[in-house]
Amino acid sequence: MMEQDIQRVLFTQERLKSRVAEIAREIERDYEGREIMLISVLRGSFIFMADLCREIQLPCTLDFMSVSSYGTGTSSSGQVQITKDLSEDITGRHILVVEDILDSGNTLNYLLRILENRHPASIRLCALLDKPERRVKPVELHYRGFTVPDDFVVGYGLDYAEKYRNLPYIGVLKPEVYGG
Ligand code: PRP
Repeated sequence: MMEQDIQRVLFTQERLKSRVAEIAREIERDYEGREIMLISVLRGSFIFMADLCREIQLPCTLDFMSVSSYGTGTSSSGQVQITKDLSEDITGRHILVVEDILDSGNTLNYLLRILENRHPASIRLCALLDKPERRVKPVELHYRGFTVPDDFVVGYGLDYAEKYRNLPYIGVLKPEVYGG
């Protein structure tokens, strides 16, 4: 059972739901009168994206991209590769990049620069979790769900070795599970 591998629950389903709604209200206020293009960076953000986009009461379009930086280890390599690019042209669009976690900043620092070069009207970042202690590269975060300690967090889209993404809450993985 997945639950046996969890040391403690950080954010329950209810807490996540109410925080996602609060972020959506901030976004609605800031983007009033504009159409947002939400970009989900796969795979970790798919659940947050699904919940967030349904909370936002403004016209939205959605697109998805995939980058690889982690492999199956526990820390970012600094090597970032686009493995699936967007389907849509973002020129002149109001882009909101949706991420599950901002950690070292390697992925987002690179990705945001790539997207800026495509000349969107504006670009902002929304991350459900922020681990500021781990930051190596600077990244401006406009919408932050929660600040989290430097523990191995899984669930609500976040994985360890591709597992635990389907846990409905966010928890800390027991160190013995990943050999920590
Ligand atoms: C996570 C997350 C970000 C990145 C953040 O993705 O979704 O893209 O790591 O880490 P960084 O700030 O250290 O660059 P991951 O590479 O684990 O892939 P996944 O979303 O498919 O799980």
